[in-house]
Amino acid sequence: MATSTHPIISCTKNISFSTKSSPLNFSRPSQIFLNPSRAAERRGDVKIRCAASPEGADGRQNPDSLSSAKLDRRNVLLGLGGLYGAYNFAGGSNPFALADPIPAPDISKCGTAIISNSTDEVPYSCCPPFDGTFVDYKIPTFSTLNCRPAAHAVDDDYLNKYKTAIQKMKELPADDPRNFYQQANVHCAYCNGAYQLNDKSYQIHFTWLFFPFHRWYLYFYERILQSLIDDPTFTLPYWNWDNPQGMILPEIFDDDESSPLYDQYRNQDHRNGYVLDLAYAGEENTANDFQKVKNNLAVMYRQMLTNAPCPLLFFGKPLRADNDSENSGMGTIENVPHNSIHRWVGDPRTAHNEDMGNFYSAAKDPVFYCHHSNVDRMWTLWKTLGGNRTDIPDTDWLQTEFLFYDETKTLVKVKVADCVDNERLGYTFQDMPTPWKNFKPTRKRKGKLKRTAKSVSASTTVLPATLDKITTFYVTRSSTSTPAGKEELLDLDLEYDDTQFIRFDVFLNEDEEVNTKELDRIEYAGSFSNLPHVHDDTSTSKVTTSTFSLAISELLQDLGLQGDDKILVTLVPKAGGSCVTVKKAYTDTIDC
Ligand code: C2O
Repeated sequence: MATSTHPIISCTKNISFSTKSSPLNFSRPSQIFLNPSRAAERRGDVKIRCAASPEGADGRQNPDSLSSAKLDRRNVLLGLGGLYGAYNFAGGSNPFALADPIPAPDISKCGTAIISNSTDEVPYSCCPPFDGTFVDYKIPTFSTLNCRPAAHAVDDDYLNKYKTAIQKMKELPADDPRNFYQQANVHCAYCNGAYQLNDKSYQIHFTWLFFPFHRWYLYFYERILQSLIDDPTFTLPYWNWDNPQGMILPEIFDDDESSPLYDQYRNQDHRNGYVLDLAYAGEENTANDFQKVKNNLAVMYRQMLTNAPCPLLFFGKPLRADNDSENSGMGTIENVPHNSIHRWVGDPRTAHNEDMGNFYSAAKDPVFYCHHSNVDRMWTLWKTLGGNRTDIPDTDWLQTEFLFYDETKTLVKVKVADCVDNERLGYTFQDMPTPWKNFKPTRKRKGKLKRTAKSVSASTTVLPATLDKITTFYVTRSSTSTPAGKEELLDLDLEYDDTQFIRFDVFLNEDEEVNTKELDRIEYAGSFSNLPHVHDDTSTSKVTTSTFSLAISELLQDLGLQGDDKILVTLVPKAGGSCVTVKKAYTDTIDC
C-alpha cells in the first residue's frame, strides 16, 4: 500500500520568515496565525526576535533570558514569589524545593533498565555511547519554518522520503548514536530507571517534563532523519488522532513487513481502519464507530479545555532535583489520550505489551514519533486556547536539562526554556480541523436524577474503597464560590499498583446506572489512566500514592450545580480497578 485513501492535503512546505513578508503573503494566513500578536511578532527578523529584551512587547519572556537566569534561590523567591503560593498545591510543601532544577543526567552512571510492568531487566543496555564530554546546544539559525504534515494526508513523494530516512537510520552501525535502535534506547534510558536522580531512578513521565522532554527528543530525531536524506526541509508526520480523519492507525504505518515503518509488535485487531478509542484501557469499546468518534472528541474537549485551564493541570506536576516523585503527577494529555494510545497500539500477544505499550520498547515502533508529534502539537494548540493557558513560569521547569545526540553525533545539552516555542526550533504544523474545540458536551439526561445526594452515602462513609465496581458517593464541597482566576478541583487520593494498566472514568451527578459507553455527555468529568512504569528501585512496594485532580468549575456550571454544597461523584472502573484504592475525595480551590 502506498497511497492514502483519504484526500491528500499538501502541507505548506516552507513558510516564509523574512522581514519583508506580511502574513497576507502566506497561503492560509488565518490558519497559520491563530494568535494575532504572535503573527505580528513573526513579521520581524528571527535574529532580532531572539535578541529582544527579556519581556517582549507581547508580554512573553524571551527564552534566552530565561536560560541565563541565575539560579540564586533568593532571586527566585523574590522574582517568582507570587508564583510560589500558586504552585504549592502541586509541588509539595517544601519551599526549599525551589531553585532546584534537574541537571543533565550523569551518563557515566547509566545502568540497567527495568521493563515497566515487571521486575525483568531490559535484556540489552539502553545507555548511549559516552566518552565523557558534551557541549551546550545552540539552535541553528534558519530562514524558513518547516511544516510537519498530518500522517493521513501525506503524498507518495513525502512517504518515500520518510521510508528512505528511516531505512538509513536502521542501517547505521549499531553503536552509532543516530542508529534507529540507539534512538529508541534514548526513551528507555530516560523512562526505565537507567539514569539515577538523587539516588532514585529518574523518570521523565508522570511529571511536568513530559512535554519538553519529548519535544527535544523529536527535534533531534527529525534532524537526524533530515541529514540522512540530505533534506533540511523534511519533517516528522503527526498522527492527527484529535480529528475524525486521523482516528485510525495511520495507513502509512499499517503496511507489510517490507516497509521500514512497519512494526510486527502491534495489536493486530487495531489495524485496517479500526476506529481508535482515545481513552482505551485494554477492553474494546463496544459502542459503534460514530459513538466512538463522539467519545474521542468529548475526551479531547475535556483534556484540552475543561480539565486544563491552568499550566500544571496541562503539563503535569513538578519534578525537581530532589526527585520527589510522590508529589509529581501527569498532566491531562499525558494521561489521556497519550497513555491510552500507547496501550491501544501495543501488542497484547507479547509479554509486556511491546512495542508501544511499554516505555522501554515504545520508540522501536516508528509510529511512536508520529504519535508524539501530535502530542507536541497539542502543546502548541493548547497555548492558543486562551485563559491561563501559558507555559510554566517556574525556573526549575525552565532550567531542567537533558542530553541528546544531534545529527552530527555530538552529545549536546539542552534546556526546557529553549524549546517552549516550537517555531524557535524551526517547525510548525500543517493546519488541520480541530472539531473538539467546539465539542462541548451537552446535556443528555431527561428528567431528574433518581438519586440525590440525600440517598447516596458520603465519601467519608464509602471511602476508602477498591474500585472493583462502579462506586458512587457525595462530596461536600469546601466552598461553593470560586472567585475569578481560581479553579475548583475534585481531588481523589489514590493508592495503586503502578506496574498495572488502570483506567477509570469520573462522572458527576450520575449514579450506578450511568451509561458507561457514552462520554460525550455533560456529566463526564474525565478519566484516569496509568501506563505501567518502573517505580523507585529503593522502595520495596509497588504501591504509588498520588492525588488525581480534575478541574470541575466549568462542569459544575454546565450542570447548573455551582451553588450546591454537595456533588454526586460516580467512579467507573474500566481496567485494573482492583489495583486501585480511592482513599479520599474532596474539593479544593487553586490559583491557576
Ligand atoms: Cu515517552 Cu509516549 O512516551
